[in-house]
Amino acid sequence: MGPHDNDLLMNFRQDPSQGHSQGLPQGERIIMFGRVVDQFGKPVPHTLVEMWQANAGGRYRHKNDSYLAPLDPNFGGVGRCLTDDQGVYRFRTIKPGPYPWPNDMNSWRPAHIHVSVTGPSISSRLITQMYFEGDPLIPLCPIVHTLKDPEAVETMIGRLDMANSKPMDCLAYRFDIVVRGELQTYFENQ
Ligand SMILES: [Fe+2]
Repeated sequence: MGPHDNDLLMNFRQDPSQGHSQGLPQGERIIMFGRVVDQFGKPVPHTLVEMWQANAGGRYRHKNDSYLAPLDPNFGGVGRCLTDDQGVYRFRTIKPGPYPWPNDMNSWRPAHIHVSVTGPSISSRLITQMYFEGDPLIPLCPIVHTLKDPEAVETMIGRLDMANSKPMDCLAYRFDIVVRGELQTYFENQ
């Protein structure tokens, strides 16, 4: 695990000493954090949380993504960390942009961050997405429309958390992940 693995503002930045003028990614600086807990609210400590996302324009750094929005030379879009003793994980990143969903005409994915967490057993990799509270694209999302339980989307929404924002620096979104039980987060691979 590298020192900037959970810091997407830093982990792909061009080195200004190499003649690059820019040093930070474009976009709204945010903190994404939360607790990974089991069905009793007990923390899941020292578990791997991985995330990947589009840049501020809605473009992934991936060869199959040909969306019009430009790549950002200072943004890779991938992070990872381990939860601490209390099950808390934390990333620093930019808010991703929405992007068009090519399977339908004029269909868009809301801003979202893909998240994978290694669950209580090492063999269980749970994959979900975090949406952003208040995004008007959430109820229009083609993926949300495929959910059998309409309330499942509520478990996938990161909540604006002013108390954990950093004044003059970053807004914060809290996204707790419940790995099993009745209040379980919706996982797309289960
Ligand atoms: Fe995506």
